[in-house]
Amino acid sequence: MTSAIEVEGLVKRFGKVTALDGIDMVAGEGTVFSLLGPNGAGKTTAIRILSTLLVPDAGRALVGGYDVVRQPKSVRRLIGLTGQYAAVDELLSGKENLYMIGSLLGMRASVARARATQLLEDFDLSEAAHKLARTYSGGMRRRLDLAASLVGRPPFLYLDEPTTGLDPASRRDLWSMIRGLVSDGTTVLLTTQYLDEADQLADEIVVIDHGKVIAAGTSKDLKMRVGGQVVFAQPVDPRDVPTTGRVLEPFARDDDAIRIDAEAVTVSIADGVQLGQVARRLDDEGIQMDELALRRPSLDEVFLAITGHVTEENELDVDADTERRSS
Ligand SMILES: Nc1ncnc2c1ncn2[C@@H]1O[C@H](COP(=O)(O)OP(=O)(O)OP(=O)(O)O)[C@@H](O)[C@H]1O
Ligand SMILES: [Mg+2]
Repeated sequence: MTSAIEVEGLVKRFGKVTALDGIDMVAGEGTVFSLLGPNGAGKTTAIRILSTLLVPDAGRALVGGYDVVRQPKSVRRLIGLTGQYAAVDELLSGKENLYMIGSLLGMRASVARARATQLLEDFDLSEAAHKLARTYSGGMRRRLDLAASLVGRPPFLYLDEPTTGLDPASRRDLWSMIRGLVSDGTTVLLTTQYLDEADQLADEIVVIDHGKVIAAGTSKDLKMRVGGQVVFAQPVDPRDVPTTGRVLEPFARDDDAIRIDAEAVTVSIADGVQLGQVARRLDDEGIQMDELALRRPSLDEVFLAITGHVTEENELDVDADTERRSS
């Protein structure tokens, strides 16, 4: 596997804020590489440096063998970027948006038109080709944005939180389009704060928090790293949840390894604990279980174990979303 993106000791400061604090990472050619982290982790800063839009304070980054600081023009020729906020011109139609980009890239008019038509078809936008982008739904806009970054057929595609704010069906559509691009050989650098997204798409994941890499590997590596297993316990009667929590507490790996929700308790159990023991203790208390299961930890639980806090996505929920839409 050739390395397509190589980053070493990348540092970026904004006044007193250290947005990137010595990031190292290597992405293989033709893979999806994901930068996973909560709000403010440094994801967009990393993307902007790798796009040559921002110069790092220290460290270096190579894209396709070119140095982002010393050979920015060569880097720019290789990349397509879909930013965190939509970049399409609202007052142009979908087709006009794509045609305009083709013209800016120096394509002949007939070539630019053909490319626009092809991309509209690939991204399921043919019917809306002549409608103003302003009238597009969120999912259509993201697809147009993605199409816009692909006009020049870049071998590298950067996607900065491509599915934030989309409904589940649109997210799945976009995921399958991204998979299609990768199977055609595109190298994708994807930032996300959705663990399931990284889990679904990424070959390699680098987890960053406060500008530092806190874990790296495949999604399976990350899950293994935290190790152990998780017991999921859901009583028939939600009123039994507190007692279930009390019964399960002694089985937890440590104090933070238990989560009590409205209807169920999830515990990352200590090594050597058997599910049978847990079942017997619950039975002793006379609690009827709807579900009692042993499973590998989800990426959510991995994140909790590594960082000591849940992802902002789960912490802020609605607030994060409204903030995003209004900015
Ligand atoms: N131009 C800037 N001037 C000052 N501070 C900045 C600037 N850009 C980013 N920062 C700060 O750097 C840190 C990292 O920001 P960055 O935008 O890279 O995070 P992110 O991971 O993309 O977050 P989000 O998920 O919210 O998009 C934050 O503390 C942010 O406030
Ligand atoms: Mg960002």
